[in-house]
Parts: sequence; structure tokens; C-alpha cells
Amino acid sequence: MKKTNIITIAHSLLEKLINENSVVIDATCGNGHDTLFLASKVKHVHAFDIQEIALNNTKLLTKDYNNITYHLSSFENITKVINYYDGVVFNLGYLPNGDQSITTQHEKTVQTLKQLYKNRLGFVLLVAYPGHKEGLLEQVAIQSFLDKTNIKYEVIRLPYFTKNEAPIIYYWHNN
Ligand SMILES: C[S@@+](CC[C@H](N)C(=O)[O-])C[C@H]1O[C@@H](n2cnc3c(N)ncnc32)[C@H](O)[C@@H]1O
Repeated sequence: MKKTNIITIAHSLLEKLINENSVVIDATCGNGHDTLFLASKVKHVHAFDIQEIALNNTKLLTKDYNNITYHLSSFENITKVINYYDGVVFNLGYLPNGDQSITTQHEKTVQTLKQLYKNRLGFVLLVAYPGHKEGLLEQVAIQSFLDKTNIKYEVIRLPYFTKNEAPIIYYWHNN
């Protein structure tokens, strides 16, 4: 059986949520694959990451696009610096082939989800990776945040992993 990649699924979900007029935030641009995908489909992408190397990798991968603003900044600042967006994409965890100690942290992630919820704008699509220690804390914290709100969220989990290892996609609308 050919295994479907979680990112392929995330991208096909995103295709249904965006259009050529969309303004979308890539909250964790990493090596730039999601920013590249989004830039080819929407009007404007705001790409955030806290690591300079991630921003540089993303800039290199997306050098043929002029519809991207790069932010060397934590996703906690999204609602402070961006007034309007149609959606926010989070691919959580650490930079592939990078420093694994620099990973998204559950407190900051949930804090940001609360801010986005309060803003009542657009969709959120998250890919969470409970297969590592902080990733598990993060996924549990996200689930708990969602269950305390009236958000109607969708969850996708791939079947061919043990329960705690499977990456998970959550997505919902805040408006
Ligand atoms: C799994 S990688 C993202 C992969 C990326 N979307 C891609 O397509 O290559 C996770 C990224 O989140 C970044 N990150 C960690 N904490 C962050 C924060 N508070 N704000 C923004 N980015 C953060 C890491 O530096 C890392 O590059």
C-alpha cells in the first residue's frame, strides 16, 4: 500500500479553504514547503518563523514569488502585526534537519489559538505531531482548548501509525 503523506492531505484540505484572493498566514514556515504551496494559490502569504535559518530556507525556496511577506517572529505576534487574514496554517514541531530542541511549545501554541479565536477571522489548519514529547503535550493541549470552546473542528489521523505517533490534522473556522 502506498502511504499518503500527512502534508499531502493537509494541502488538499487547504485547496478547499483558499482561493486566489486569499490572504493566508503560514505560522511556522520552516523549510518553506507550505509557504511555497500557498504562494502558488493565493493572493498573499505571511510567513512566520522564529529561526533565521528557517526564514532563509523559505526565502530561497520561494524566490520566484513576490506575494510573500517574511516575519522573523513568533506566531504569538500574528494578531499584533496582521490586521486581516483568511486563514492560518500551523505545521507544528521542529525544523526537519534542524535543531530539534527548537520546537513549538504547547503554552504558546494554545495562547495563539486563543488570540485567533478571539479575532473571529478565517480558518485555522494545524498539523500536530504527538510522536515526540513536546508534540504530545501540544496535541493534548490543543484538544483540550478545542473541547472548552464551541468550535466545530474536524480531525484527521492517519491509520498506519501506533496511536500516539500518528500526526494529526485539526481544522476549523473561527468566523
Ligand atoms: C515542522 S517545522 C515547519 C515546516 C514548514 N511548514 C515547511 O513546510 O517546511 C516547525 C517550525 O516551527 C518553528 N517554530 C517553533 N516555534 C515557533 C513560534 N513560536 N513561532 C513561529 N515558528 C515557530 C520552528 O522554528 C520550525 O521551523
